[in-house]
Amino acid sequence: MINLKGKTALITGASRGIGRACALRLAEAGCDIAFTYLNSPRNAREVADEVAHFGRQALAIKADVSQPSDIETTVRITGEEFGRLDVLISNAAGGGFRPVLDTTLPNFDYAMHINVRALILLAQYAAPWLEKATDRGKIITMSSMGGSRAIPLYGLIGAAKGAIESLTRHLALELGPRGINVNCICAGMVDTGALSHLPNKEDILRMRRQKSLVGDIDLKPEHVADVALFLASPLANLVQGATLVIDGGTSLHV
Ligand SMILES: NC(=O)c1ccc[n+]([C@@H]2O[C@H](COP(=O)([O-])OP(=O)(O)OC[C@H]3O[C@@H](n4cnc5c(N)ncnc54)[C@H](OP(=O)(O)O)[C@@H]3O)[C@@H](O)[C@H]2O)c1
Repeated sequence: MINLKGKTALITGASRGIGRACALRLAEAGCDIAFTYLNSPRNAREVADEVAHFGRQALAIKADVSQPSDIETTVRITGEEFGRLDVLISNAAGGGFRPVLDTTLPNFDYAMHINVRALILLAQYAAPWLEKATDRGKIITMSSMGGSRAIPLYGLIGAAKGAIESLTRHLALELGPRGINVNCICAGMVDTGALSHLPNKEDILRMRRQKSLVGDIDLKPEHVADVALFLASPLANLVQGATLVIDGGTSLHV
């Protein structure tokens, strides 16, 4: 049983989907949770209530991670409220599905700002807190198969995810000596709100199920949260700069 009692985590984009599942998993393990939301205040209130049900403190912060000042404020408020930060999960993301050749400059800027720049700024602001964590601070980043493969309409987000995997390794190099582990989770397709605008979503999900090497278990946000819980814990103190794939083996074979 992983025990994170007395620790604090900051999770971006935890009003829904994978971020929400991470918030609840870590709270269940004893962690106080600060988290951000943007357009879903009601969902955020529900997450805060669920964290409280585990007997943990919850702090919901409205923040747009494409805005540098919101990131600075988020980390500062978390530090002021909890007085410590042990785990940072840079999870909020977005970008829109479109061919690379149809990408406009605003599309490019948004995808890079919300995925890539947000991670850099979060790491910069959070490092002074994380390096004081009692049992090594933890930064967890989120990638996807598009970071290393080609997926229709996913080029821009895929490029941002590739950058996140690279930044994970380089941040590990810089922050490892300061007592911080930086690792990435690369999840297969999870049926969250993020996929609601993907035109061929059902076809892709069906194809993924056919390629699964773990029977008919569908990949759910909670499965990804289990990996986040491991990476957030002292069990992962020797895991550094890694990208862990969780996809039921679907990406192993063509
Ligand atoms: N779903 C998948 O198949 C999959 C696979 C691999 C990796 N991932 C990665 O896992 C992470 C979470 O994905 P998900 O599927 O759980 O997404 P999701 O269900 O769409 O949830 C996105 C979360 O991010 C927040 N958010 C969106 N734009 C934001 C912004 N500009 N600033 C701050 N917060 C913002 C949303 O908040 P509001 O609702 O409050 O606006 C929401 O809490 C992402 O990094 C994604 O790339 C997803």
